[in-house]
Amino acid sequence: MKEPLVLGIETSCDETGIGIVRGLTLLADEIATSVDEHARFGGVVPEIASRAHLEALLPTLQKACDVANIKLRDLDAVAVTAGPGLVGALLVGTSAASALALALGRPLYAVNHLAAHISVDALESGAHTEPMIALLVSGGHTSLLRVSDVTADVQPLGSTLDDAAGEAFDKVARLLGLPFPGGPEIDRIASTGDRSSISFPRGFTSAKDQAAHSLDFSFSGLKTAVARYVEGLIREKRVVDVPAIAASFQEAVVDVLIEKALRACAQEGIDRLLIGGGVAANSRLRSVARERCEHAGIQLAIPRPGLCTDNGAMVATLGSLAMARDRPATALGFASSPGLPVTKALI
Ligand code: KG4
Ligand code: ZN
Repeated sequence: MKEPLVLGIETSCDETGIGIVRGLTLLADEIATSVDEHARFGGVVPEIASRAHLEALLPTLQKACDVANIKLRDLDAVAVTAGPGLVGALLVGTSAASALALALGRPLYAVNHLAAHISVDALESGAHTEPMIALLVSGGHTSLLRVSDVTADVQPLGSTLDDAAGEAFDKVARLLGLPFPGGPEIDRIASTGDRSSISFPRGFTSAKDQAAHSLDFSFSGLKTAVARYVEGLIREKRVVDVPAIAASFQEAVVDVLIEKALRACAQEGIDRLLIGGGVAANSRLRSVARERCEHAGIQLAIPRPGLCTDNGAMVATLGSLAMARDRPATALGFASSPGLPVTKALI
C-alpha cells in the first residue's frame, strides 16, 4: 500500500508555506513570504501578514500541487498550524485547511508550530530517533525539550525567561542598523568579524544561576550589554565595528545555547540532540553544535537551513507522523490557538 499523501499549511507568521509529503518523503515545499512588506516597520505587522496570506495561499497551494505532480483529490489528509502564532494569520490557514478537508472528505490534523519545527527532521533522519533532546530556537520561542513522541509527549526542561534567541538577533541587528529580519543579517556580517574581540555576558551561566536556572535562558541582559557598548563607542566618537560586535554577540548566544543543550542531554541521559526553528539556520550555531556534539559523543540532527525557518513541509511531516501513529484527527470547527503551549503537539 502507498504511504499517505499529506498536505501541510503554515501561516502562523509572515511565511505562507505549503508542503506536501508522502509518508516521510518530501514532494513539495513552496513558500511565499511577506517579509519585504514588514521590513520598513522593523517587525512583522499582523494585519499585513494576514492579508498577504490571503493573497498568497491559493497560488502557493497550486504551485505545490504542480511541483508534487498531484491533484487535491489525491490527498489523504490535510494538516495545518493551529498555533502558536498571530491570530489573524493563523485563521487564514486554518480556514483554508478546514474548507479543504471538508470538501475533500479527508481527515484534518491541526498541529503545533513548535512541534512541527522539531518533527521536520524526520524527513532527513527518519522517524526512529526518539527519545531526543530538542533545542527549539525561533523568533518567538527558545526552549529545551525532552521529546519522547513528537506527536504526543513533549516535555519542557527549560526556556527563556525573557527574549527568544531570534528576537535577540532581530533586536541587536536593529541597533546595529541592519535590516529586518536581523538573524540572517548578523549571520552574514559576523562572518567577517572577530568573534573573540568583545566579551559579552552569557545569561544564566554563573554558578549562582546554575542552581535555579540550569536549563533556562536569558538574552535581555546580553541585548542591553550590546546597546551600552555601542552607545559608549558613539559617545567617545570611536568607530563602531559592526562585524566584530555582530560576531561577538552571536558567539555569546551560540555558546549558551549549545552549552545548555549538552547539559540537558547529560541530565536526561539522552545522547541525541535535535536543533530546530529559524535560528537553527545560523551558520555559527551549526558549526559549534557539530564540533561540541562530536566531542561529547552526542548524535546531532539539524535540518537543512531551508527547513529550519518557517515552512509547510514541517506541518505536513507532523500530520504524516500523527496519521502513522493513529492519533485522532481534529474535529472540524476547532479554534486556532495563538498561545498554544509546546506540550500540546496536536489540537
Ligand atoms: O522559526 P522562524 O522562521 O519563525 C518563528 O517561528 O519565529 O524563526 C524566525 C527567527 C527570526 O528571529 C530570524 O531572525 C531568525 O529566526 N533567523 C536567524 C537566521 N535565520 C533566521 N537567526 C540567526 N541566524 C540565521 N541565519
Ligand atoms: Zn517558526
